[in-house]
Amino acid sequence: EEVKEKEWFIGSIDQGTTSSRFLIFDRQGIPVASHQIEFENKYPQSGWQEHDPLELLSSVDECIEKATEAFLKDGHSKDQIKAIGITNQRETTICWDTNTGEPLYNAVVWPDTRTTAIVRELKQRPGADELKDLCGLPLSTYPSSVKFLWLYRNVEAIKNAYDEGRLSFGTVDSWLIYKLNGGPERGVHVTDTTNASRTMLMNIHTLQYDDKLLGFFELDKNKIKLPKIIPSSDKEAFGSLAYGPLKGFKIAGCLGDQSAALVGQCGFAPGEAKNTYGTGCFLLYNVGEKPVISKYGLLATVAYDFGAGRKPIYALEGSIAVAGSGVKFLTKNMKFAELSAEVTELAGTVDDNGGVVFVTAFSGLFAPYWIDDAKGTLFGITAHTQRGHIARATLEATCFQTKAILDAMEKDSGHKLENLAVDGGMSNSDLTMQTQADIIQITVDRPVMRETTALGAAIAAGFAVEVWKEFDELKDINKLDRTIFSPKLDKKKSKKMFTKWEQAVQMSRGWDL
Ligand code: G3P
Repeated sequence: EEVKEKEWFIGSIDQGTTSSRFLIFDRQGIPVASHQIEFENKYPQSGWQEHDPLELLSSVDECIEKATEAFLKDGHSKDQIKAIGITNQRETTICWDTNTGEPLYNAVVWPDTRTTAIVRELKQRPGADELKDLCGLPLSTYPSSVKFLWLYRNVEAIKNAYDEGRLSFGTVDSWLIYKLNGGPERGVHVTDTTNASRTMLMNIHTLQYDDKLLGFFELDKNKIKLPKIIPSSDKEAFGSLAYGPLKGFKIAGCLGDQSAALVGQCGFAPGEAKNTYGTGCFLLYNVGEKPVISKYGLLATVAYDFGAGRKPIYALEGSIAVAGSGVKFLTKNMKFAELSAEVTELAGTVDDNGGVVFVTAFSGLFAPYWIDDAKGTLFGITAHTQRGHIARATLEATCFQTKAILDAMEKDSGHKLENLAVDGGMSNSDLTMQTQADIIQITVDRPVMRETTALGAAIAAGFAVEVWKEFDELKDINKLDRTIFSPKLDKKKSKKMFTKWEQAVQMSRGWDL
């Protein structure tokens, strides 16, 4: 018997920087089953951050198994799942052998700064100044191309594979899609435009690899197999799962996680924005059908690209490298508390930061500053300073950078944001969201269901298989009972705090000398 339209579900793989998840959503955007697994982040040297590509895959496999089990236990049946979407940490770079499908090195994760010296060298090359107009991104340690260059120069297995023309390159989406499809046998090697826009190899205007960009990074297309770039929503090109409980189910959507969160927040109109407080924090502002190349330190990126005759939509992005990872630093390294949530409690034991400013520049500073050689720096310590002040300053660091990003966005777009939609782990903290509203002096708007990233990927997949056909059908999703944080802090006081932050940012420079 045909499954009724109202009983359709969409699966969503969300592979992030610290954990993997699989969620199953109904047509109202409500997750009915989910499973999450944290995996190991490796920090082999100062500034380095790696993942085991096979562990990323096995964690995804296990999440699919467990969430599907829960879904079935709940009385649903597999044939109600219409398709699967995938969303992922962006920029993280994986190289594998085209013949065997096996990884040749650990994944180099997006906040990794081992490339600082390479970036310095690249900035001197002819053509360096033109890159941003072509791909939307400034030269920094952040994009995949720079990470690849390090791998090519430093890992023999990768150099050999490249020289012998058997090297496959991919971001996490490409890697997972390739492996979930069964690897070399089917050889499904694809990426979507949102993920490709983070490599620095794709032309942001044509949405294809650009010979000038490949030339700048000395990449020979005959030696390196790059994933084919396709729209974020597609019924065939992403293939299907080759094994596991959902074997044969189609992957029909793929979005970088920040793009997915914008989609999950239904930020479909130009002028709408969202800020996701995950491991890092990323503000995406919908600018419509044409990319805006920033003059003030933001990135031009593909927001989403739903194909089927629809035009791709672009965003201005403000990327903050450290958000949840700052809180993790306090729990794991400094032993301030057991759990992340307790850091907020600790911050709540004091009335304010007590004069402490913490520039959490663990990966240099990203937007809008782009200071590669900045290092995490604590200012304003006195004998009065308590752990609560430092906890508070850690949470505030992300809020201050968000303010700097909003200022840049206003200058680039000529438009002042009036309301900021938020999601992600740190948005669970009322104290942090109130602080955010106080610092940016506009309302902060938090949905009840905060798995917006996974929801966005489900939406991309759902469009491909016509679970939804128009954006309008999504207009009620996640709208009910949102929490609005209004600024309470006096404007002058807020401004003063920010001035102090900016001063601290300048002092965090130059620690690589
Ligand atoms: O650009 C990196 C970003 O995609 C990672 O997101 O949520 O893991 O911090 P998240």
